[in-house]
Amino acid sequence: MNDIAAMSGGTVFFRPVKKLEGRIAVPGDKSISHRALFISAIASGISRIEHLLVADDTMSTVNCLRMLGVDIEIKDTYAVITGNGIDGLKEPSDILNAGNSGTTARIMLGLLSTRDFFSALTGDESLKTRPMKRIVTPLMAMGASLDGRDRANLLPLSVRGGKLKGIHYSMPVPSAQVKTGLIMASMGARGIMTITEPVSTRDHTERILKASGVDLKSWDSTVQLACAQKPLPLNIAVPGDFSSAAFFIGAGTIAAHSDILITNVGVNPGRTGLIDILKSMGASVELLNTRYEAGEPVADIHVVHSKLHGITLDDRKLIVRAIDELPLLAVISAYAHGETVIRNAGELRVKETDRIKAVVNGLSGIGIKAKDLGDGMLIEGGKVKGGSVSSCGDHRIAMAFAAASVSSEKEISIDNFDAVSISFPEFINIFNMLRHA
Ligand code: S3P
Repeated sequence: MNDIAAMSGGTVFFRPVKKLEGRIAVPGDKSISHRALFISAIASGISRIEHLLVADDTMSTVNCLRMLGVDIEIKDTYAVITGNGIDGLKEPSDILNAGNSGTTARIMLGLLSTRDFFSALTGDESLKTRPMKRIVTPLMAMGASLDGRDRANLLPLSVRGGKLKGIHYSMPVPSAQVKTGLIMASMGARGIMTITEPVSTRDHTERILKASGVDLKSWDSTVQLACAQKPLPLNIAVPGDFSSAAFFIGAGTIAAHSDILITNVGVNPGRTGLIDILKSMGASVELLNTRYEAGEPVADIHVVHSKLHGITLDDRKLIVRAIDELPLLAVISAYAHGETVIRNAGELRVKETDRIKAVVNGLSGIGIKAKDLGDGMLIEGGKVKGGSVSSCGDHRIAMAFAAASVSSEKEISIDNFDAVSISFPEFINIFNMLRHA
């Protein structure tokens, strides 16, 4: 059953399978894990987090918080964090490094802006190309001083904060990372903070803050809270990551024979756009046993094979609810009957890599016609021959093409597969549990 994905250097060869079957669980949600760490770090007292995602991105958050003097102990996926309140954070003695993690960078810039000390934040080669102006502009409007390359748009950025005031900010681009960075900044500001988004994004921050006693109102695409609130320590279990489960939902849909149950997955409606989209293409995905943990809906997800047909996807709300799954969706639509068109998804260009370019190139590498539409792409369903694909060092591109391999004619080789350690280090092991040659 195992021994299907062979490894050579950083390249992994994925052979097609006869069937995908079994019951699996996925690691903790990346977005919720970051937020749990940040909130625990500014609470006064001991927080306990179970099923934390232990992966490169969340370890970037842990390392930065430790450099600010926060005590964090982690054993397997259980974390104990001793916070001394936001005022207990210490000036870091060196440059903080967010690695590959946009979430760490944007939330950390919000947190650092509350402090009347000097700090500097950098990231890896990918993160250093990603836009930070979207968080820097409102933080400067709140009273922080930030500077960096490209007129304070690119890391490394220096920060000197303190004495912030709450503002009403209308975000030009929907972004949960920016919204969360601003909510974090409000924790060390005066007055009232109001944030309006063009389209509502994932609301994990709002839910976890409510669970830690913070009074916060949300309506339509607006969040409002009094500044300087003090979250209580957390005691939570992080649900499984929907974005990690998504690769098996996609693979289960296209494998000729499949029956998969993924247990304990977070199904926050801000994240599950992929299910609605796949269903509109003909897929069979069911949520079972829905319950609540730490204010978040959690369910078991059942997937069996279905025949798909192409669609046009341009609804901005749905795009935002599926933003991290769009590369997977594009790759899966290679198996659909007819064309699939994705539009209004220009944000994909500023993720860990240019995900439109990476997907279009990857699809041509495995025999599928695909076109870059600027703010999206067009994929012609057809015969997936197999071949080689570049992950571009992007975890989600790597796993999307691995999912596509289950029904390809020949193997698909994917370079730099180690990139999966960003969000899902156990991916190959769990994939192999389902694969039957
Ligand atoms: C995230 C928000 C999304 C998403 C990212 C994680 C978060 O980014 O793409 O993977 O945890 O808040 P944006 O908010 O920048 O769109």
